[in-house]
Amino acid sequence: MNFLLDQYLNTSTVGVVLLAILVFSYYYLLRRSNSKSAKGPKPPEAAGKWPVIGHLQLLTGTGTRLPHFVLGELADKYGPVFSIRIGVHPALVVSSWEVAKELFTKHDVDVSTRPKVTVGKLLGYNYATFGFAPYDAYWREMRKITVLEVLSNRRLELLKHIRANEVENAVKETYKLWTEKRNGSGSGGILVDMQQWFGDITFNVILRMVAGKRYFVGGESDEKEVRRCRKVMREFFELAGIFVLRDAVPYLGWLDLGGYEKAMMKTAKELDSLGQEWLEEHRRKRELSGEPNTNDHQEQDFMDVLLSVVDGANLPGYDADTIIKATAMIIIMGGTDTTSVNLSWTLSLLLNNRHTRLIKVNDLSGAYHLLSSARALLMQSSSGSAEEYLIDLDAELAELH
Ligand code: HEM
Repeated sequence: MNFLLDQYLNTSTVGVVLLAILVFSYYYLLRRSNSKSAKGPKPPEAAGKWPVIGHLQLLTGTGTRLPHFVLGELADKYGPVFSIRIGVHPALVVSSWEVAKELFTKHDVDVSTRPKVTVGKLLGYNYATFGFAPYDAYWREMRKITVLEVLSNRRLELLKHIRANEVENAVKETYKLWTEKRNGSGSGGILVDMQQWFGDITFNVILRMVAGKRYFVGGESDEKEVRRCRKVMREFFELAGIFVLRDAVPYLGWLDLGGYEKAMMKTAKELDSLGQEWLEEHRRKRELSGEPNTNDHQEQDFMDVLLSVVDGANLPGYDADTIIKATAMIIIMGGTDTTSVNLSWTLSLLLNNRHTRLIKVNDLSGAYHLLSSARALLMQSSSGSAEEYLIDLDAELAELH
């Protein structure tokens, strides 16, 4: 069983995270409907349930088949709504947009919470990280602050130069590498790991917007500090995608199969010490400059904003420092891998479908358009051609899928 679980547990991919989100988001709904001894018909339960672990072995023990393929096959057999058991928890698997739409409209309140999973406790400041928090007053307040202060058009506009600057830097760095290679060996062409390229840009953009820091590409920052930050962030991404046994079978949690809980506690400590340093720096900066700067024209990062907002807010349950660190971290974590994976997918879809009207083999304008679209994506450029290209790109990608 350890071996079987390991296959799954080590699959730290966005797919697994999304799968966990999909499946777990609904287990409360199912539990509710069960507890009300469901007036309507119950969804069919997939066959193959084992004692204690339920259907986990279907998702973990099939070697090369990833969980979403297994669930897809079950949906072909049982229809768009069926139930499984993830350990002791009943879960509803929905694979039709019509049902999903109904759930998120008519039954919104029933599906708006999320279970308290171990990662939220150990890596998410005991659920102060609102991305792991259940639906309650705290979650609503933190979400409101984040949407207003980080994701609003006004804030994006204010911090536009950060995105512009990071993209320009990355393009310049790549150009420099290319010219060095060409001057050295006389041959053209360099290999660029685009996943890394997109990853560095998005990470720098988000880190600057949230904490006013810059840790990748170029040599501005202290090497040791860069390595420390990279390591702890990477560990977080890996551990956040892991499914721990305790979440499926709580009474076996003490076994800590794979040692993931121990690893989470260690990473949480390192992450917190990084966050604490940033926070202290921000507090010192405020003390030196007197009252917090509320002038829209001057740059405030998200930690500055949080310091102003959280200190005066009525947020019971956690102290201000915990809320600020937890919220800053979830924005950094939530915005980095998602955006860079999205960009990498976009690029690979286009390159694997060179027949599309937006990119042609050996066509430099295709590459140019890709760059300008990445630029537009990150900068919300007002350049007409880049925006038009993005709209075309969206339509094209939808068709490719
Ligand atoms: C293509 C890019 C993105 C994708 C695919 C994506 C995907 C998701 C998904 C599926 C969730 C829901 C998680 C859940 O309900 O448990 C989520 C939540 C969240 N995302 Fe994103 N995300 C993206 C970009 C971003 C960016 C750029 C940021 C921040 C700047 C961000 C911050 C967050 C936060 C804070 C949450 C928690 C929200 C909540 O609890 O209400 N995401 N994201």
